[in-house]
Amino acid sequence: MQILDGKIVSQSVKDQLKTKTDALKAAGKKLPHLAAILIGNNGASETYVASKVKTCEEIGFKSTLLRLEESVSEAELFAAIEKLNNDNDVDGILVQLPLPKHIDEEKIISLIHPDKDVDGFSPVSIGKLVQGMPTFIPATPYGIMLMLEHYEIETSSKHAVVIGRSNIVGRPMSILLSQNSNPGNCTVTVCHSRTNNLKEICLQADIIVAALGKPGFLKADMVKEGAVVIDVGITRVADATKKTGFAIKGDVDFAEVAPKCSYITPVPGGVGLMTIGALMMNTYNACENKK
Ligand code: GUN
Repeated sequence: MQILDGKIVSQSVKDQLKTKTDALKAAGKKLPHLAAILIGNNGASETYVASKVKTCEEIGFKSTLLRLEESVSEAELFAAIEKLNNDNDVDGILVQLPLPKHIDEEKIISLIHPDKDVDGFSPVSIGKLVQGMPTFIPATPYGIMLMLEHYEIETSSKHAVVIGRSNIVGRPMSILLSQNSNPGNCTVTVCHSRTNNLKEICLQADIIVAALGKPGFLKADMVKEGAVVIDVGITRVADATKKTGFAIKGDVDFAEVAPKCSYITPVPGGVGLMTIGALMMNTYNACENKK
């Protein structure tokens, strides 16, 4: 069993981007510029956005952080996005989710210019993904693809089972694994809360992507010997022994499942670490696409 190490792969992605950005700088060219909008004071969102900004600094990207009050109106948020859409120096825009209840998430995401939609959440980006066109791929599935690529895991003709059908993980993941590319070319089964015989389906899988948000859900008796298991879960579970008061738990019962796997991602230290690298790849590409 080999661990798919998010720390190693994300560092490799960041190193590659830093090298390319250093070259842009040396040539006096425009540097990639990510703009993030953070609304309110959600603890997890604050942490995520802070890491995104810090990573931009580490690899030499420009970043702009726009903080707005929890009470911001939709009109004010529209205006802020429109300003960034029209700012030629800004390559990528992300609005950190979740948004306050009075704001329509779908409407906001659709407002980001497709050329700057580095989260890949807009209908235009998802539509392109479905059609196999070049586009921005959402960070989690993109991070998983980068991991499979880094470890040269054979996916062609394999049976992949994706548990979860969310717009940001399960659905795009299922599309990427089925597309005619490497990694890709899998036969994909998408499972969800209404799936019957989930255990039997998982037992047929060469690759399992667990993205349902239920800590410790995937047990050893659901996994075939030699399977590749990708754990997308990042649930905060109360843990008095931790300084923060919580531990991050994946969707896979790692202790039980790991001995049966050929490859497995740990939580923490797996897929979660890949997402920022993937976002940075999208931002770099958004900058390149302008040329
Ligand atoms: N909230 C949790 N994950 C994400 C993400 O990838 N992008 C944005 N914009 N918000 C998030």
